Amino acid sequence: MPDDTLLRLAPRVGASLPSWREVVAYLRDSGRPTAIDVLRSARATGRPVLQPRCGVGGHEEMLALLRHLDTAAAPGMLSVTIDSHTRLGHFVTAARELRTDPGRLNGYPLVAHGWARGRELTESVRVPLEVRHGSPDARELFASALAAGISSFEGGGIGYNLPYSKDVPLAESLSAWQRVDAVTAALAAEGVVLERELFGTLTAVLVPPSVSLACTLLEAVLATEQGVRSVSIAYPQGGEIHQDVAALRAITLLCERYLPQDTEVFPVLHVFMGVFPRDRAAADALVFHGALTGRLGGATKVITKTRDEAWGIPSAEANALGLITSAVATSPLLDFIRLDEARIAEETAWILTEVAELVEPLLAARDRVAAVCAAFASGALDVPFSASRNARAAVLPARDPGGAIRYLSPGGLPFSASTLRRNRELLADRAGRGDVTDVTGVVADINHFADAIPVRTPEVSQR
Ligand code: 5AD
Repeated sequence: MPDDTLLRLAPRVGASLPSWREVVAYLRDSGRPTAIDVLRSARATGRPVLQPRCGVGGHEEMLALLRHLDTAAAPGMLSVTIDSHTRLGHFVTAARELRTDPGRLNGYPLVAHGWARGRELTESVRVPLEVRHGSPDARELFASALAAGISSFEGGGIGYNLPYSKDVPLAESLSAWQRVDAVTAALAAEGVVLERELFGTLTAVLVPPSVSLACTLLEAVLATEQGVRSVSIAYPQGGEIHQDVAALRAITLLCERYLPQDTEVFPVLHVFMGVFPRDRAAADALVFHGALTGRLGGATKVITKTRDEAWGIPSAEANALGLITSAVATSPLLDFIRLDEARIAEETAWILTEVAELVEPLLAARDRVAAVCAAFASGALDVPFSASRNARAAVLPARDPGGAIRYLSPGGLPFSASTLRRNRELLADRAGRGDVTDVTGVVADINHFADAIPVRTPEVSQR
C-alpha cells in the first residue's frame, strides 16, 4: 500500500495523521497485546473475553475511567464509546462541546481530541481498546482510531446505518464500509490483524435471530470481498437461552457455509440490549444471565451491561460491577450447567434455514451491494422497528410462550411455507402473554424483562 492510504481513506483528518508506515509500525511493533491476540487466547481457554462500553467527553476523565475499569474489574478489553456528534461526522460541533461543556458529550470525541491523545488512551491500560460508535460512514473515525493504535473497530454498512440514521442511503454506508474493510485487509497484509466487529444488535428491540444473523453475515461477506479474513459477528441476547445459544452456535456454522474457508470468526454476545429493569438487583440478574448465555453459547467475547442500564449511561462503579458480575457468571464453578441440547439443535437448524432463505437469493447476485440495497427497498430484508427510510420495518416479531422471539408477521421476508408455519404454530398459544394483534402485546414483549424478574430487593425504584 502506498503511503497516502490514510489520506485517501480520510480526506478531512488524513493530513494531520502520521504516515501509513508509522501507523502500521505503532500497531504492529508496540509489544502491547492487540484485540485479536486477546480473542485468540480466549478462544483457546473457552472462556469469553469480557468488555464493557465506556466513554466520556473529557480526555483526563476518559483516562481515569479506563484506568478505573482496568484495575477494578480486570476486563479482557475496553471500549472507547464515541459521542453522537463524532458518529455523524460533526467533528467541529464535538470540538466546540469539548471546549464549552465536555460533560454534555455522551462519549469520547476521538477525532476532536486527535490521534496523539488517542495513543495516550491506548497506553494507559493493560488491555486492547475497541472503538464503538454507530457511524454510517466511519472512514475519518477509523483512520483516527488506527493512528491512535486502537486494534478493534465496530460497525458495518447495514447495522451502523438502519438503526442509527433516518435517511442515509444504504449504498452510501455500504460503500464507505467497503473502504474501511479494504484498509483492514491492507493492514492484515502488513501483519496487523484488526478485530472487525459487526453490530448485529440492529434496533435492539425484539430482533429475531435470523434477521440479525442475515445482516451480519451479509456484512461479513462484503468484508471478505474486500480481503478481510477475520470478523467478529455480534448477536444480541434475546433472552430465551436455548434460542440465544443456538444463534451463537449458528454463527460459526453460517460462516463455514458462506465465507471463504480461511476466514477466522469470533462469535460475540451483546448482553440484553432492550428495556432493562430499574431494580438494580433484577438488572444484576439479567447481566449475569447474559454473560452465562454467552459462555454456554461459545461466544469468544461478551459485551457486558450494568445495573444502571435502565437509568442511563453507567457510573464507573456500576460498570466495574457489571464486569465482575459477568466474570462470576462465566466462572468455572458454573461449568456443570447443562442446557437441553436437543432443543438447541432444533433451534439451530431452524435458524440456519431461515438465514439461508434470507441470504441465499442475495449471495447469488453478481453485485451483492446492489442486491442488499434492492432487498431492503423491497422488504426482502428488513429490520423490525427501524426508523430509517431505507428499511420497511414491516416485520413484526413477538415472543412465544417460552419467551423466544418469533415472526408474528414476516412483512416482505421471503420465507418458505414451512418456516412461516412453524413461526405461526409457535405463536398460536401465547398463554396470557397479551394479544399481539393489538399493540399491548407487543409492548409487553418489549418490556419482557423490565418489570418481571423476581428478585426481591429493598432497592426497588431508587436512584
Ligand atoms: N458509556 C457507557 N455506556 C454507554 N452506552 C452508550 N454510551 C455509553 C457511554 N458513553 C451504552 C448504553 C446502552 C448501550 C446502547 O450503550 O448505556 O447500554
